[in-house]
Amino acid sequence: MMVWRVFKILIWVLFILYLACFCKGFTPQDMYLVDCGSPSDTKVGNTTYISDKAASEYLSTPQEILASTSSNSITSSSDSQLYQTARIFTGTSSYKFPITKTGRVWIRLYFFPFVYNNYNLSSANFSVSTQKNVLLGDFAPKNATMKEFIVNVNSEDLIITFAPSNNSFAYINAVEVVSAPDSLITEDASSISPSGAFNGLVNQAIETVARVNMGGPLLSFENDTLWRTWVNDQAFLVSASSASTNKSMIGSVKYPDGGATEDIAPQTVYGTCTKMNSNGDSSINFNVTWQFNVDIGFQYFLRLHFCDIVSTVANELLLNVYVNSWNVAQDFDPSSKTFGNLATAFYMDYVTPLASNNTLRISIGPSSRSGAYSDAFLNGLEILKLNNSMGSLSGAVSVPSSFSQGSKKNVGMIVGLSIGVPLALLMVLIVFVMFRRKKQERLGHSKTWIPISLNGGISHTMGSKYSNGTTVSAASNLSYRIPFAAVLEATNDFDESWVIGIGGFGKVYKGVLNDGTKVAIKRGNPRSQQGLNEFRTEIEMLSQFRHRHLVSLIGYCDEKNEMILIYEYMENGTVKSHLYGSDLPSLSWKQRLEICIGAARGLHYLHTGSAKAIIHRDVKSANILLDENFLAKVADFGLSKSGPEVDQTHVSTAVKGSFGYLDPEYFRRQQLTEKSDVYSFGVVLLEVLCARPVIDPTLPREMVNLAEWAVKWQKKAQLDQIIDSNLVGKIRPDSLRKYGETAEKCLAEYGVDRPSMGDVLWNLEYAVQLQEVVIQNDPEENSTNAIGELSPKVNNFNHTDGTSSVVEMSRVEDDLSGVSMSRVFSQLVKSEGR
Ligand SMILES: *[C@@H]1O[C@H](CO)[C@@H](O)[C@H](O)[C@H]1NC(C)=O
Ligand SMILES: *[C@@H]1O[C@H](CO)[C@@H](O)[C@H](O)[C@H]1NC(C)=O
Ligand SMILES: *[C@@H]1O[C@H](CO)[C@@H](O)[C@H](O)[C@H]1NC(C)=O
Ligand SMILES: *[C@@H]1O[C@H](CO)[C@@H](O)[C@H](O)[C@H]1NC(C)=O
Ligand SMILES: *[C@@H]1O[C@H](CO)[C@@H](O)[C@H](O)[C@H]1NC(C)=O
Ligand SMILES: *[C@@H]1O[C@H](CO)[C@@H](O)[C@H](O)[C@H]1NC(C)=O
Ligand SMILES: *[C@@H]1O[C@H](CO)[C@@H](O)[C@H](O)[C@H]1NC(C)=O
Ligand SMILES: *[C@@H]1O[C@H](CO)[C@@H](O)[C@H](O)[C@H]1NC(C)=O
Ligand SMILES: *[C@@H]1O[C@H](CO)[C@@H](O)[C@H](O)[C@H]1NC(C)=O
Ligand SMILES: *[C@@H]1O[C@H](CO)[C@@H](O)[C@H](O)[C@H]1NC(C)=O
Repeated sequence: MMVWRVFKILIWVLFILYLACFCKGFTPQDMYLVDCGSPSDTKVGNTTYISDKAASEYLSTPQEILASTSSNSITSSSDSQLYQTARIFTGTSSYKFPITKTGRVWIRLYFFPFVYNNYNLSSANFSVSTQKNVLLGDFAPKNATMKEFIVNVNSEDLIITFAPSNNSFAYINAVEVVSAPDSLITEDASSISPSGAFNGLVNQAIETVARVNMGGPLLSFENDTLWRTWVNDQAFLVSASSASTNKSMIGSVKYPDGGATEDIAPQTVYGTCTKMNSNGDSSINFNVTWQFNVDIGFQYFLRLHFCDIVSTVANELLLNVYVNSWNVAQDFDPSSKTFGNLATAFYMDYVTPLASNNTLRISIGPSSRSGAYSDAFLNGLEILKLNNSMGSLSGAVSVPSSFSQGSKKNVGMIVGLSIGVPLALLMVLIVFVMFRRKKQERLGHSKTWIPISLNGGISHTMGSKYSNGTTVSAASNLSYRIPFAAVLEATNDFDESWVIGIGGFGKVYKGVLNDGTKVAIKRGNPRSQQGLNEFRTEIEMLSQFRHRHLVSLIGYCDEKNEMILIYEYMENGTVKSHLYGSDLPSLSWKQRLEICIGAARGLHYLHTGSAKAIIHRDVKSANILLDENFLAKVADFGLSKSGPEVDQTHVSTAVKGSFGYLDPEYFRRQQLTEKSDVYSFGVVLLEVLCARPVIDPTLPREMVNLAEWAVKWQKKAQLDQIIDSNLVGKIRPDSLRKYGETAEKCLAEYGVDRPSMGDVLWNLEYAVQLQEVVIQNDPEENSTNAIGELSPKVNNFNHTDGTSSVVEMSRVEDDLSGVSMSRVFSQLVKSEGR
């Protein structure tokens, strides 16, 4: 008796389990449905969206604003209740949902712009991002819309951040975060051009652009196992008369084993189609074309759903499928995919190249092969947008590096895997050095600051030699979002007496973080036109590029529409301030050369330190800063641009930069190359030598422009006539000659005639040597030989400056990219060190 009862219970349990697992094709592990702004739970069909209050544990926002409307303007849609309430965000706010099953997750966001008290939601303008991807940028919905995304989550939480654009606000009516089956999008897509397999779909963030049920009815979430919406195709047909529909076969659709499933698309999609409006007459030949709007500069994933409910005999109907003008399936026999079975579902996936046109056309047409049954059909189509190379689904906006907490683990792993044991030891060493520095400073860094000091440890103590490839990528996670409150504290509430500089961007304050670190805090002027772009550029550039001779970014703050950048503090200010217009003590020639070399190194690194050259665009003495040891660092990357791709030679762009330093060729042709920076650097060299403004309108006409005037004297070989009076008699003629020649070459009319930053660096190093060493034979020959001659002499040279060899040593060590250069000089340095 007992056994029988247990058995019965067991059967029931199994039955219930069976129901739970198989009734709906897929059971999501994580599911968050929130009706934002709603005072109570909302039922849509049989699903419940929780109230705003119940969701508040997931939300962090500076202000509580719940809005509602009684507007009935969206009554037709079955989920219209979700649009009746909204939450308004006046500052950056985020939902943080714990994710138990990593992998693909649907995000659906509902927006409806109604008017609530002083908020006209139509004027909202904001961006939405996750830790890894920008989903919507400068988004300003004008109608009731639902945006659907699939993202790949491999962290413990999914954080969805709403950030109001400049002086605006954000809102949201409802949020859905639901696990998606990983089998939904696999790696099997073909790339259309160049043809081949497309790899990497797994890591894509995806936005739904169109999901169409060809020849069939509108399907809403109740009709789809994954709650997708499918719309009818009529609106997309280029010529409605070319098409007819067949929707009689819904009941007979077969899903093959191991192929399409109800989760891929429901029966109603496969059981209806749009076909050619013909009767198989082989003399008739035309295409049925659908047209969709897409955004230029993105790739699209296309899924074409087929199920042959048109033919009566297998292998007779052959069709052509076109994507724009590419024929992606020529003389294609649909029944070849289903082992000759008719009315059987299958699908094909493609990835388009970057869209260069706002329209995407999908066409089907009959094969021209003789004997084929002349017809063509399509049952369903999905068009999904893939994120761009910056991880964004919207323009050029990229996710601020501090958002990407989820990726830290990966970086660690990649570093671990790719560099192996020797560098693991190095890491231990770095940690050790860091630890020691921390101890020495006795500053009690809080936890958040550790990565910053890690960066400090690398760039100052170890030199950047090791950042090549490894820490540079890790460094992109090292800039920190700093709370506004901390910035206020650091600057004594933006004390005007702490202002150390004022620029086009805004004011620069001196500040002290609560751990004692001195910082420079640049507060963007919210009214500055280009402010936001420059703000982003600067964060991106400085997070990616870390170098001993580039000013490092410690953090930033974008709370409350602020644009605040926090840099390492540069004790000795700008190079310009040490040259003229202040009563600071004059710099020695050796110091000036070292400064120029430092700046040249920073620029050389920008130009060559990554696959794509970075062009600074605003090289000037006011953008070269000096730390407490007069070590030069290049600053102000707000105008920087990625240089040309390998196959191009320049970047076309509006002319920006500073008057007096501007490359005339760039000015004429609006084409930017690294050589534009070389030109500006040439002007800086002259400024450093002559210690006068680059443009001085108070001087006689021929003297106004320093570059023109000095080049004239250089050509006459009389540059010594116009140098800073403090330097007169202190520069060795050879050193000055080398320096003058270098500056002149930098200022060549055409970019091609100018040296690279690496050459400039080399020549400046040489000028230093010429200053220090008495050379017996004036070296007219090429410089490599000169160095060869030089090095034995260095042995005998008696150093007066004890620190000099240390400086030399670190200089060589920090050089990332000028490898050949450092070899030449390491020889010198070694002998010097004895
Ligand atoms: C909702 O659930 C009820 C009972 O469980 C069921 O009869 C009904 O068909 C369901 N409705 C929808 C739209 O799924
Ligand atoms: C709300 O803003 C939209 C567009 O900005 C405008 O057309 C509409 O008239 C505004 N509504 C109200 C009530 O101000
Ligand atoms: C949204 O804001 C951005 C930047 O603030 C602006 O460029 C864009 O034009 C705005 N969009 C709308 C529709 O107002
Ligand atoms: C909003 O809807 C109206 C009418 O329904 C339409 O004319 C307009 O193009 C839509 N605007 C957007 C931005 O979708
Ligand atoms: C920010 O808003 C102000 C005032 O509305 C406007 O003048 C400025 O151009 C905007 N800046 C950007 C980057 O959109
Ligand atoms: C979609 O589901 C709704 C509710 O269950 C039902 O009334 C409707 O007939 C379904 N539509 C289709 C095309 O199956
Ligand atoms: C169908 O469209 C493709 C791509 O646009 C085109 O090459 C082809 O000639 C068209 N066929 C017919 C019959 O118009
Ligand atoms: C749809 O196709 C099937 C199979 O060829 C055919 O029997 C049926 O009549 C067609 N229905 C329509 C409405 O064209
Ligand atoms: C974009 O494609 C459409 C349709 O194929 C074509 O008419 C139009 O000329 C194209 N535009 C550009 C700029 O290529
Ligand atoms: C999308 O972003 C990921 C990183 O999030 C990147 O690996 C991938 O290359 C991007 N996709 C494209 C098509 O650039």
